[in-house]
Amino acid sequence: MKAMKANPGGILAPEDVIGRDKLIAKIWAILEQQSVILSAERRMGKTNMIKKMQAEGKDNKLIIFRDLEGMRSPIEFVEAVWEDVEKYLSKSQKTTQKVRQFISQFQDAEFSGFKFPKIAATHWKILLTKTIEDLVTNQEHQVIFLWDEVPYMLGNIGDEESMEMLDILRSLRQNYPQVRMVFTGSIGLHHVIKKLKEAGYKNDPTNDMYPIDVPPLSLSNASELTTRLIEGEKIETDNIEIMAQYISEEVSGIPFYIHILISKLKFIYGFIDKKTVEKTINKSLINPLNIWKIEHYRDRIDNYYTEYEKKYALKILDILAIESGLSFQDLWNRLALDDEEIFRSVLKLLLKDYYLIKENTIFKFKINIVKKYWVISRTL
Ligand SMILES: Nc1ncnc2c1ncn2[C@@H]1O[C@H](COP(=O)(O)OP(=O)(O)OP(=O)(O)O)[C@@H](O)[C@H]1O
Ligand SMILES: [Mg+2]
Repeated sequence: MKAMKANPGGILAPEDVIGRDKLIAKIWAILEQQSVILSAERRMGKTNMIKKMQAEGKDNKLIIFRDLEGMRSPIEFVEAVWEDVEKYLSKSQKTTQKVRQFISQFQDAEFSGFKFPKIAATHWKILLTKTIEDLVTNQEHQVIFLWDEVPYMLGNIGDEESMEMLDILRSLRQNYPQVRMVFTGSIGLHHVIKKLKEAGYKNDPTNDMYPIDVPPLSLSNASELTTRLIEGEKIETDNIEIMAQYISEEVSGIPFYIHILISKLKFIYGFIDKKTVEKTINKSLINPLNIWKIEHYRDRIDNYYTEYEKKYALKILDILAIESGLSFQDLWNRLALDDEEIFRSVLKLLLKDYYLIKENTIFKFKINIVKKYWVISRTL
């Protein structure tokens, strides 16, 4: 086992991305048939996983990764896709002819680098389609676009254009079966689509895509990661194996928390025991600097839930944070609110947003460390 330095939040070398091999194999298998939406809690390791997929590659597949976080308009997105395609084709002395022909019809068709002339902006859908056409006609591989932060981009470009974007991406998937897309991102796509529906959007633009959850690491993978970090950071402890297991359980197998906890522990002088670990975690959870980025579980409710939904959501979470779990009826009785339909739809949202799970008939917190954060931060 190779020792490893803590790197909370960064992009890791592919061999340092632990425990995603089975999931990656599953994603490749699904991509044979269908495009994929990867979703997970923030910081669960989505970006590192798809970067690993790209780095490892796959026979007979062309894999293109792009982070879309900085995109502010549809044409910027199209330029990015075009740049990726053009760079790939140029390796075999090919080019995106259809795109270039289309651009050349404009009077002011001068452009440099990977920016289209301004006048092309309104034609972004045609340009996107032509880019894909150029790509599929110039090479035989199946093409996999790994697009990170898709929901974030959609949030940036405005409702009307987001709707058009989702629709055209769907029609490209249908018209070009050799093209597959993997969408991922730190905001749930369902929030973006919910907002678009409120603005009048009628389509179901991702119902052809296969949704996959990226879960926390298994206990054994989390322990492996923790062991490597304890060794790499030379943390002194009695029994590495027991400590690694303890830490993994305490942070619910979430790899980001393992990295960030170790990066804190390495500055603590002397032997590290369970008590020190527990204290460090508890302090981190209420650290006003939000270094663990865990406040997002609270903030998200303000950002993506309506005022009405928020009232229900907070109360549901407050109740479940101090219970081991409750049935629908018990939870409803304890809530003592008046609209059962809102209650049902908020429960659904809380399940989708990874706060809760339903085990048989019982609703409970999904992730222990989140439950702990909820209790501590809301002084329940
Ligand atoms: N499989 C893994 N093995 C080891 N460390 C990991 C793994 N996955 C994630 N990490 C750690 O967690 C951090 C966050 O991972 P990453 O940025 O991939 O998450 P994300 O799900 O894309 O987050 P966001 O939702 O904020 O975009 C990494 O920088 C690394 O420290
Ligand atoms: Mg990410």
